[in-house]
Amino acid sequence: MSVSRRTLLLTTAGAATVIPLTGAAAPYRGPLRADPFTLGVASGDPDPDGFVLWTRLAPVPLAADGLGGMPYRSVPVAWELAADERFRKVIRRGVAVARPDRGHSVHVELDGLSPGREFFYRFRAERFTSPVGRTRTAPARSARVAALAMSFVSCSQYEHGYFTAYRRLAEDEPELILHLGDYQYEYAPDTYNIPGGNPRDHEGPETVTLANYRQRHAQYKTDPDLQAAHAVAPWAVVWDDHETENNWADEVPEQPDPNFLARRTAAFQAYYENMPLRRTSVPRGIDLQLYRRLHWGRLATFHMLDTRQYRDDQGCGDGYKDCPAAYDPARSITGPEQEKWLLDGFRRSTARWDVLGQQVFFGQRDNNSGPSKVLSMDSWDGYQASRERITRGWVDAGVRNPIVLTGDVHAHWADELKLDYDDPTSKTVGTELVCSSITSGGNGADVASGNHPWAAWNPHLRFYNNQRGYVRTTITQDSLTADFVVLPYVTTAGAPAHTRATFVVEDRVPGLHQVADNPAPATSLRAGNDLGEQTVQQETDRP
Ligand SMILES: [Fe+2]
Repeated sequence: MSVSRRTLLLTTAGAATVIPLTGAAAPYRGPLRADPFTLGVASGDPDPDGFVLWTRLAPVPLAADGLGGMPYRSVPVAWELAADERFRKVIRRGVAVARPDRGHSVHVELDGLSPGREFFYRFRAERFTSPVGRTRTAPARSARVAALAMSFVSCSQYEHGYFTAYRRLAEDEPELILHLGDYQYEYAPDTYNIPGGNPRDHEGPETVTLANYRQRHAQYKTDPDLQAAHAVAPWAVVWDDHETENNWADEVPEQPDPNFLARRTAAFQAYYENMPLRRTSVPRGIDLQLYRRLHWGRLATFHMLDTRQYRDDQGCGDGYKDCPAAYDPARSITGPEQEKWLLDGFRRSTARWDVLGQQVFFGQRDNNSGPSKVLSMDSWDGYQASRERITRGWVDAGVRNPIVLTGDVHAHWADELKLDYDDPTSKTVGTELVCSSITSGGNGADVASGNHPWAAWNPHLRFYNNQRGYVRTTITQDSLTADFVVLPYVTTAGAPAHTRATFVVEDRVPGLHQVADNPAPATSLRAGNDLGEQTVQQETDRP
């Protein structure tokens, strides 16, 4: 029997004070010795009468054991919700318990609040008080909402740059933020490098164990720009692949790995612990329920999808391929249950705008100018029957304004969605907006033409830009306006933000109208450095 085990037995036998027997440290169970609020605060999944408030205690956030330097015991965490930033009008307060087996995370799920209202929240643990966060309830389901300011983001590789885009997003003060996946990356330091070298390094090895994933999430959450974005508004998050492993598909890892299900379980556990998710997303075994709907009055319904957990494995070994599996009607990217849930949601919807918040490129992107099609096996192109069933579902249900929001590809794109991409007379039935990465891929460069070379034979592709940034939308009864915001650089901190292009989608008119085109100022352009094709090459690896 080891010394530490004996110490533990003594402790559990009722000893009030733990006395290490021969110098080995017993798990510390005393008071907090440093500020545990190093990971900031967050809120998420607003509905008309509540939301989730989140924090996680970690006085030593980068601790390799993933436990954040916390005493090995449950810690009561007091929370307060107020109508004002100074907490003069406290509306609710309570105490949650941060448990070691939940990574000392706190998820406070509130209900019974007034719809369409702004709130402020904070936490207290022993003698320490957290920063203040701002959040809001969604409008009442029956409310005729004039406007929603919603921004969406994806792909924040800590090593590839500074999270300035999150800071600029926070400065806009949106009402709702969607994160569409690749919130963090699994790699060991120096294994996913940008040209010129990474300006920051991951802590710890490639994430495989629960300790690894907890440590990695903690490292990301220490970033002040990310904390600012979480504190400004409620988020609705969905994952892509890198929160677990590059290009995983249901129970199939990227490379054969007999321990993949244990790895997936660990990744899901840490994801839940570190995100403002409701208790419906508490992981159960290898599963975590992530797809769900959010309603913003009668203005917008957000169908948040999970295209990783239930998909068939990528066809033809992934990458860009001319692959028969892409056309196999038996293959699915959503799985049958989620597909049914989504199609039912279309049929029941009374929203002005039906928005899919999801991971991978929805519209067709054939990278081959010749007669054969060469398509990304990881995106909806690799699951064409799935795409057709969803596209047909909009039409059959009479969805008024179908919109798809996408991340993953580390570039801004905008495209028009068709029932048949091969028929030039096929009507546009929906619109896709794709946000670039927060940092993944490094600085990138402007594309003066405003579009990608593939647009020549994919005419539904209307906009492309290969700088980092996010998409800011304003959704009204009459239109959805999308500003494609870019930053001239991310490998040093503090870049200004610049609206590179603005597109409008009008009510009942699927497709894109460009209303602004603002190429980067000449000083921030890198001549001859259009990385479009290079980005595409990276996509086959690990966006
Ligand atoms: Fe990515």
